[in-house]
This record gives sequence, structure tokens and C-alpha cells, in this order.
Amino acid sequence: MTKTKREVARRPASAAIPSGWEYAPAPESRDIVRVNESYGLYIGGGFVEPLSNERYTTIDPAREEPLSEIAQAGKADVDRAVKSAREAYAERWSNLRPSERAKYLFRIARLLQERSREFAVLESLNGGKPIRESRDVDLPLAAAHFFYYAGWADKLEYAFPNRTPRPIGVAGQIIPWNFPLLMLAWKIAPALAAGNTVVLKPAETTPLSALLFCDVVRQAELPPGVVNIVTGDGRTGAELVSHPDVDKIAFTGSTEVGKAIARTLAGTGKRLTLELGGKAANIIFDDAALDQAVEGIVNGIYFNQGHVCCAGSRLFVQESIYETVMAKLKRRMRTLRVGDPLDKNTDVGAINSKQQLDKIGALVQSGIDEGAEIYQPPCKLPERGYWFVPTVFTNVAQSYRIAQEEIFGPVLSVLTFRTPDEAIEKANNTPYGLSAGVWTEKGSRILAMAQGLRAGVVWANTYNRFDPASPFGGYKESGFGREGGRHGLEPYVQLDGE
Ligand code: NAI
Ligand code: MG
Repeated sequence: MTKTKREVARRPASAAIPSGWEYAPAPESRDIVRVNESYGLYIGGGFVEPLSNERYTTIDPAREEPLSEIAQAGKADVDRAVKSAREAYAERWSNLRPSERAKYLFRIARLLQERSREFAVLESLNGGKPIRESRDVDLPLAAAHFFYYAGWADKLEYAFPNRTPRPIGVAGQIIPWNFPLLMLAWKIAPALAAGNTVVLKPAETTPLSALLFCDVVRQAELPPGVVNIVTGDGRTGAELVSHPDVDKIAFTGSTEVGKAIARTLAGTGKRLTLELGGKAANIIFDDAALDQAVEGIVNGIYFNQGHVCCAGSRLFVQESIYETVMAKLKRRMRTLRVGDPLDKNTDVGAINSKQQLDKIGALVQSGIDEGAEIYQPPCKLPERGYWFVPTVFTNVAQSYRIAQEEIFGPVLSVLTFRTPDEAIEKANNTPYGLSAGVWTEKGSRILAMAQGLRAGVVWANTYNRFDPASPFGGYKESGFGREGGRHGLEPYVQLDGE
């Protein structure tokens, strides 16, 4: 039987919900955060009305309900923001004593910690991710990034010994919707620590945490114009990229847009870093601790609904343990709780947008059409909102679209291998090169695999682990440049001899 797209995307509740105790609802209260009816653009230390006079509605993807009216910044708005950043750069920030810059960053970090519950609820409300993740991952990591780079602000000459690091100017930063506040932190913290000022554009579907961040900037008494936030869709992003007075662009998002940005900037002398898509291999050897590995598989692909650039979306299982791993994985998938992002027991939340849901549905349909075998656990989905049941495909050929293209949803493709060399060859058979996972008891094998895998990050016996001190970034079509760690300062400094 061929399933229609709709049947796959919204499988009706089945009678076969696992037996046992049901969880009672445990919703986090959304009262802790106040969402304004509408927002302007944050330019020069305050909110201003958009000169474009255009707005759009941002929604809660779990309920398909409007949350707020957001400004769609036009060319003149972007220009205003860049001017404000330029003035702040020249007059208030680049020449400030580095230890003073550090103080502001420490303040921001502490404020994020103090207001973390508020931010976590807002992140889940606007983006659809489970509160458990925004509370335990996004917020602590965002604060940690500011703490980390605050520490570097007055130690830059130790990061680049004998190279006299200087700031580069105004940075234009464009971020995606999967980790809105965390990506903001990855971008803003190193830029400011190195003495630059920024104009940041959040993704159109998830602007709210960046707009709440403006209030943190206010509380921290950051000098006006050091951080400017312009909202809007890709058109606003394109205006920022092509603005002549921006010195550096940092982009995280799709490979398609990354390529377009690279074309626009070619020959301009502007600096560019790109953090793009991925199709990571998560490789399980027969000597791995299998229950732990199964947790790693689940965390690798179902974390944040699979809206993760480094998601372990291709699972490579050594042939001898294939049946065992699949049985354990399917059993584990049946316990995943899909639903209200604000419920503290939810494992998998809402898909971020209708557009993304359609993309996932189309790719899953292609998997079925090409001949892969689909498994989805019984699962009761809410009536409204954008949802996708955690999905695993077996009988996948390497040429299938589901094994080649980034799905960016809770969809796993399983392949097998016999030898380490075969695993490396298959894992590297992708235009991407962002991350990989290796599960084995053998230390020497971990090192050999890490050598052979063309991926910016290789996790061993864990997955999706982040630390501000550790650089992150890709090879090939996953982009270039590193964020995090000392490496993450490099794109934001000019060095003697450059
Ligand atoms: P996108 O690349 O269009 O959006 C990312 C950011 O770029 C947003 O802020 C957007 O407004 C901005 N943007 C869009 N067009 C632009 C342009 N021409 N110039 C400058 N900025 C522009 O990604 P989209 O359309 O939301 O998602 C499509 C696919 O991209 C996803 O299904 C996923 O596969 C991939 N993606 C990967 C991400 C990653 O973290 N690597 C993040 C988001 C999406
Ligand atoms: Mg797009």
C-alpha cells in the first residue's frame, strides 16, 4: 500500500499506545513571559518603528495562534541599523578598555541566567521546541557562551600571541530558527568580545527571543548601537549582506542561501563565515554499549524535532548487530512523547513552520516512493499545530534522497556496514561535512575514525554535545569558519600581517 503524504505526516492516533501509567499534563506556565502585541526594530539602543511600514505575524507553531506583529525591515531600516552600529563602533565600543567590554558581557550572561525561565518559555512558545530542551540546553548554553567570551575580551593578545588583534568593524549576522537565542549568543558574544558592533537578523519565524534579548541589552546598559536587531525575512537578510558598510557577514542557515551570500560577497573584501547544513553519520560498532548508543541515536535525530544542522540523520549500524539495534531503537521510539512544547514531559515538540512540515512530508514521501521501509511508532498528535511523528527508514540505498538531502526533521535513515573502512567511505559519501558520531568501546578505533571522517566535529560515545570552549563548524557544503572556542574569535579580529 502506498501511503499518501497526509497519512504519513499526520498518522491518526492508534489504539496501540504503550500500556502502563499515563503521564499527567505538566505544562509550564506561559504567564512568566510578556509578549507585546507588536515590536519595532531595535536600533541605537531603543525600539523604533520600521520605515518600511511593513509587519507580519509571528505564530505559535504548536497551536497555530498569532503571538505578535513583527516589523519587516526594509533597505532604509537596515541602513539605519548599520549606521547606528558604525557610530557605536567608532565612538563607544572599539576603543573601550577591553576589561570594560568584558563587564558588559558578564552582565548579559548573568541576566540571561536570571531570566532563563522567561526566555525558555518564549523560545518554546515561538519555536515549538520542548521546554525541557529550551530550559536545559538552549538557555544554559546561551549564557555559557557569553560567560566564555566575556573571559576572552581582555585576553585577546593571549589568544593571538604577537599578532596584535584588532576588531574589524560592523558585523552583519543572520541566524536560523532552530536555536534562535543560542545562535544569537554564538554570533553576538565573540563579535562584541573582540570589539565589534553588530546588526543581527533573527529568522522570520522565531524573532521573539531576540526581541526579548533587547531588554537584556537595555538592563546591561550596553552603550547604544553596539547591538542592533532588525527583524524580517530573507529580503532583510539580503539587504544586510549587500550593505556596503558592513565589514563581515556571519550566516547560519541553508546551504542554498549560503551559496547565494558567497556569490554576493565575492570580490568585495568583506569577511564571511558560513555555517550551513549537514547529513551526519552516526556510526554504531558491534562492540558499543548498545543501550547507550540507542539513547545517542534518539538524541542525535529526535532532539529539537531533528531541526539540527549536526543531527545524526544517517545511522550506520554494523551488520552483525543490525537486528538488535533496530529492535531496541523501535522499542525506545514507542516511548517518545510528542506534543505540547510547554509540557515538561514532552520529548518531541512542534515542527517550526508549515513550510518546514511540508518539506519533511515531501522528503518522507520520496523515501517511500524510492522503496525504503518506513516505521513510525503509534502516536497521538494534537489536532492543531504542525507535527511530525518520529520516523525511521530502513532498507535505504545510499542514492535515495532521504540518504543524501538534509531533511531537518525527526526522520532517520538507517544503513549498514561491515568494516570500519566501509563505514568511513559511506559516511563521507555526502556533499556535507559538519559532524559525525562514533560508538565503540575501542579508543584506537575512535581515533582512526575521527581521522577518516570528513566532519568538523566527531563525537565519540555521545552525540549533540556542545561546549562554548569547543569550536564548531564544517567542511565542504556545510560551510567554513568556526564558532566557539578560541577559533570563534578569529573571524572577528584583524591580525598584524593580514
Ligand atoms: P534559510 O537559509 O532560508 O534561512 C536562514 C536565515 O537566512 C533566516 O534568517 C532567513 O531569513 C535568512 N535568509 C533567507 N534568505 C536570505 C537571503 N537571500 N539573504 C540573506 N539572508 C537570507 O533557511 P529556511 O528556508 O528557513 O530552511 C530551509 C532549509 O534550510 C531547512 O529545511 C534546512 O534543511 C536548512 N536549514 C539549515 C539550518 C542550519 O542550522 N544549518 C538552519 C535553518 C535551515
Ligand atoms: Mg529559505
